Amino acid sequence: MAKSASRFVCQECGAVTLRWAGKCESCGGWNTIVEESKPQPLPRGLSGKGRPIDFVGLDGKSEPVARLVTGIEELDRVAGGGLVPGSVLLVGGDPGIGKSTLLLQASAALSASVPVAYISGEEAVDQVRLRARRLGLDKARVALASATALADIVASLDGPNGPKAVVIDSIQTVYADAVDSAPGTVAQVRTAAAELIRLAKRLGFVLFLVGHVTKEGMIAGPRVLEHMVDTVLYFEGDRGHQFRILRAVKNRFGATDEIGVFEMTDRGLAEVANPSALFLAERRGNVSGSCVFAGMEGTRPMLVEIQALVAPSSLAAPRRAVVGWDSARLSMVLAVLDARCGLALSGNDVYLNVAGGLRIGEPAADLAVAAALVSSAGGIPVPADMVVFGEIGLSGEVRAVAQADIRLKEAAKLGFAQALVPAGPRRNAGGSGSHAPALRRAGHVQDVLALIGVQTP
Ligand code: TYD
Ligand code: MG
Repeated sequence: MAKSASRFVCQECGAVTLRWAGKCESCGGWNTIVEESKPQPLPRGLSGKGRPIDFVGLDGKSEPVARLVTGIEELDRVAGGGLVPGSVLLVGGDPGIGKSTLLLQASAALSASVPVAYISGEEAVDQVRLRARRLGLDKARVALASATALADIVASLDGPNGPKAVVIDSIQTVYADAVDSAPGTVAQVRTAAAELIRLAKRLGFVLFLVGHVTKEGMIAGPRVLEHMVDTVLYFEGDRGHQFRILRAVKNRFGATDEIGVFEMTDRGLAEVANPSALFLAERRGNVSGSCVFAGMEGTRPMLVEIQALVAPSSLAAPRRAVVGWDSARLSMVLAVLDARCGLALSGNDVYLNVAGGLRIGEPAADLAVAAALVSSAGGIPVPADMVVFGEIGLSGEVRAVAQADIRLKEAAKLGFAQALVPAGPRRNAGGSGSHAPALRRAGHVQDVLALIGVQTP
């Protein structure tokens, strides 16, 4: 091969360099650069004569799309209320988290109404059948194949009577003969995805692509894959827990931030219609350091238990361990408690855990974290029938957060009688029902200490 026929491509970010290097200058990844042959020139010259395009107004008529509904409500909601024909969904997640299981269940559910093809490049037909039997889905009319050659896949899907939903598990195993690099490399993934996406758009079938994630938690292969598809879903969860969360991080046909909650059982993934009840199921009341946070995930309220443990430390640099929350945010809350309330925890180990394996990204959890910390430090339980939410500012002020009424409604539904909320403009939050939680308002973190009954010097 002539020297000029190859180039070096970073497998993480897709950056192209002329020389091999140990570290990618673009994304900083180590050992990610791989030699690939140059892509073929475009078949038609880019400089060819073009025709003027027709411009139209924004208010033109367009037909409302009829979405395909799987019947797995958690999945349909995350996709934006069903699957749009011709749309492409990329499903990423750690190995063994349950991507194949989810998509097999979705295929089986869809096969009741439309023809569905499930193409596995990772497992043999027998393996998939075995799983289908275990899930009780072996009677579903899903067309199953084990294939990895792009040309074969495209040839089988093309045609007027093709399937209306297709699962490719996974895109990293598909390879195109025309591309001169190993399966799973950027060039292969990009080519295979582009070809399949074009086919899906032309024939109008829903395409699910399973994508592996790297150690850093990004979908392996080029970031461009995320740009090429319509919807990016991450399937996440702690393998030690049975909860699985399907999260939309990009969606051209619906809201992002939407999540679906599943439970991995011995008979596959079960939908969790009421996650709050599940996340709180093992909570023990009247323990210091435990606090229920009324959070939001997308449009859904979700109550979770936040646990803190403050213990004397013998280390020069005490430990700070956080599971399920941002450690920088914990440091901030600790600093505010120290500087604004005189509650110094710098000589203590501090552990913070979001029970159930959920990951919270909301600043609205600040107040609940502060309450859990204060409660653990003082050895006084937060009232067991209280939910907490609010953001904390650096001067110790408690700030209002969005969707307070939805949070309070969920708390009322689960029988919580009190809520510690930011002292803001008074609104009839929580609805007018007689079960609405009684509001305890905090304008400053100091109020939290007073409410729990912790004295500081
Ligand atoms: P899988 O769907 O193969 O994960 P992925 O495709 O994301 O790699 O899920 C495999 C895991 O799920 C495996 O560890 C076993 C577990 N599992 C169950 O607990 N119950 C089930 O019914 C099935 C099918 C799998
Ligand atoms: Mg799999």
